[in-house]
Amino acid sequence: MRVSSGVSGFDEVVDGGLPAGRLYVVCGPPGSGKTTFSSQFLAEGVSQGDRCLFVSMHESEADLEADMSGYDFGFSEALDSGQVTFLDAFSQDGKRFFGMPGERRDSNTISNRITSFVESRDIDRVVVDSTMLLRYFIDDTDDTMIQFLSSLKRANATTYLISEMTDPSAYADEHYLAHGVVFFHNYMEDDGMTRGVQVVKMRGADVDTDIHDLRFTDRGLVVATDRSDAR
Ligand SMILES: Nc1ncnc2c1ncn2[C@@H]1O[C@H](COP(=O)(O)OP(=O)(O)OP(=O)(O)O)[C@@H](O)[C@H]1O
Ligand SMILES: [Mg+2]
Repeated sequence: MRVSSGVSGFDEVVDGGLPAGRLYVVCGPPGSGKTTFSSQFLAEGVSQGDRCLFVSMHESEADLEADMSGYDFGFSEALDSGQVTFLDAFSQDGKRFFGMPGERRDSNTISNRITSFVESRDIDRVVVDSTMLLRYFIDDTDDTMIQFLSSLKRANATTYLISEMTDPSAYADEHYLAHGVVFFHNYMEDDGMTRGVQVVKMRGADVDTDIHDLRFTDRGLVVATDRSDAR
């Protein structure tokens, strides 16, 4: 089964949508579109009747809602639909899962809590934003991160894990462990900032690994493909 990303042009790049129930790492430099891409994924899920979980370690629900309010992909409606659980790591609910920063929790406990939450509520789509703070909350060792990722991989939901890694030559564990890696680029050219998106890998799908032009439009992110130009 394939899952629609909710981003115009992106499903074509991955040969008809993301293989369902898998773990995808969404990475790229600051401001490159990771959170927007993930928000479109959840809004699309809600429109398909999916149950969704957004774990945020960067922003409160209100801040994210405000950030996405300039687009018309229906993020605010999605949050209000009752189909999205927003878990802010710094809220009371969040602290039940993650504990206080610095107070190192057993990663097994955190992984198990998130996985059982996803399974008990039959959640279809998960976004974790991001690994940077995850590393802050859980023991900063390779083992604990791997444990967390393996647990996410085993859950039945289609999951986006946002990763801030900016150096393409420095792949981390999550890039190898994930079923797929989507890389957002932004680079300066003579005529200003150019944005692009690249699917570096996707197990089990015949993907196009070229860098595609990416634009922020009123509809959110739009990917240019050979067949459809970004408008
Ligand atoms: N219409 C718009 N509404 C909001 N942001 C926009 C819009 N058009 C372009 N942007 C840009 O989108 C960027 C934010 O994208 P997003 O939050 O998805 O990036 P990110 O990769 O998650 O960044 P970070 O690593 O900082 O979390 C901002 O830098 C903003 O300038
Ligand atoms: Mg972000």
